[in-house]
Amino acid sequence: MARGRSTYVCQECGHEALAWTGRCPGCGEWNSLVETRADPERRGAERARAASPVRLRDVEAPAVARLATGIAELDRVLGGGLVPGSLVLLGGAPGIGKSTLTGMALGNLAASGSKVLYVSGEESAAQVRLRAERLGEASLSVPALAETSLEAVVATLEAERPAACVVDSVQTLHAEGLAGVPGSVGQVREAAAAIMEVAKRAGIAVILVGHVTKEGAVAGPRVLEHLVDCVLLFEGERERSYRTLRALKNRFGATSEVGVFEMRSGGLVEVADPSARFVGEASGAPGSCVLCAMEGSRPLLVEVQALVAPTEIVPPRRVATGIDRNRLAMVLAVLARNGGRSLAAADVFVNVAGGVRVDEPGADLAVALAIQSARAGQALTSGERPLACFGEVGLTGELRHVAHAERRVAEALKFGLGPVLGPDPGEPLDGLAPQPSLRAALRAAFGERSALRRAA
Ligand code: TYD
Ligand code: MG
Repeated sequence: MARGRSTYVCQECGHEALAWTGRCPGCGEWNSLVETRADPERRGAERARAASPVRLRDVEAPAVARLATGIAELDRVLGGGLVPGSLVLLGGAPGIGKSTLTGMALGNLAASGSKVLYVSGEESAAQVRLRAERLGEASLSVPALAETSLEAVVATLEAERPAACVVDSVQTLHAEGLAGVPGSVGQVREAAAAIMEVAKRAGIAVILVGHVTKEGAVAGPRVLEHLVDCVLLFEGERERSYRTLRALKNRFGATSEVGVFEMRSGGLVEVADPSARFVGEASGAPGSCVLCAMEGSRPLLVEVQALVAPTEIVPPRRVATGIDRNRLAMVLAVLARNGGRSLAAADVFVNVAGGVRVDEPGADLAVALAIQSARAGQALTSGERPLACFGEVGLTGELRHVAHAERRVAEALKFGLGPVLGPDPGEPLDGLAPQPSLRAALRAAFGERSALRRAA
């Protein structure tokens, strides 16, 4: 293959240069030039004939049969399985279980008679085999290719035409003719574009595995997220066994679905009823509050824990795990105005137990109640039963409506929790004790004995 000429294109202003420089001569931005393959044929396309648009009603849209990976949680997050000819980007921190998940999926697909291919750029075929041995018989029948040359991978896909293929990882592929190291933005983009081209043509469902930076973005290329049809993020803390899989983008399904897994010695096990797990593990001690969260269309009960400890440090520590730290700061500020003394001389730690992440404003009330419970040393129970709650806390201390109140309450009742404190849904709801404000919710939760009451 002829060595294609590279140009360097500024990702900020589009300036094109023949050599890489640290600073874009066009706009002055630092480190924004990305190696790009100069492609004279593609340029020629600009001079092509005008095409005729087709009314959407007249566009043929054949119903595609999805490929079920046999991992129900994965299929649900994908929106019903893999779509032939589509590209899925699976991101996650090292060691979270991306290779395990994709290896299991391919094993299931192979067992159900689909042709599959596992391309490993990170591990040798022998290492891939070792993992497959842990995952069982089905995974051992997956054909593997240890390869980092993009051209070789594309040629193999072309020749083999599997129904599903995993490329682990896209950051290890190296395109001939591009000088950038594997994993650089130019290389990754080139790799994804070439694989997408062959995937569309041959109807291959491709899962690209990608690493994730500390900030949680799929490393290097945001541009990849635009290119692919579906972006999945595999999260969790490596030391803990729970993993969540969520869709950040999905052209073929909802983005709100979340799958929960547990890493065991024989691979990932689906947690079909995560609420039961998390509630079963909830401590019920002061500082613990059960939150009725929604993960996509599914209610999920999780335990929010808080610890309030006196400190000399200025400013005091605010540590949030599993929730957004800006929301924690906001809840603390509203709490200080609407219920209690300031926490300016205390460290506050908030954690969603089990290594789960809750990314919804509906978690606010649980965070506030857990903190108050930790500070007062008073458990959140009504008689013997632990309380549960949900609701967004507004800046003026009002409790704001969040979606799916009925489903949240029903889930809490199912697990013997209650009553549930939450915003007023407008109509009476069995098991829900509606609260107009944070202040009212605190009063309902801690009652007369509350330290808050005594301080007021
Ligand atoms: P891996 O899938 O290799 O992670 P990634 O591809 O995201 O980097 O697996 C990560 C960890 O999971 C690894 O440290 C070992 C552990 N593991 C198990 O606990 N049980 C298993 O059955 C397998 C295959 C791995
Ligand atoms: Mg891996």
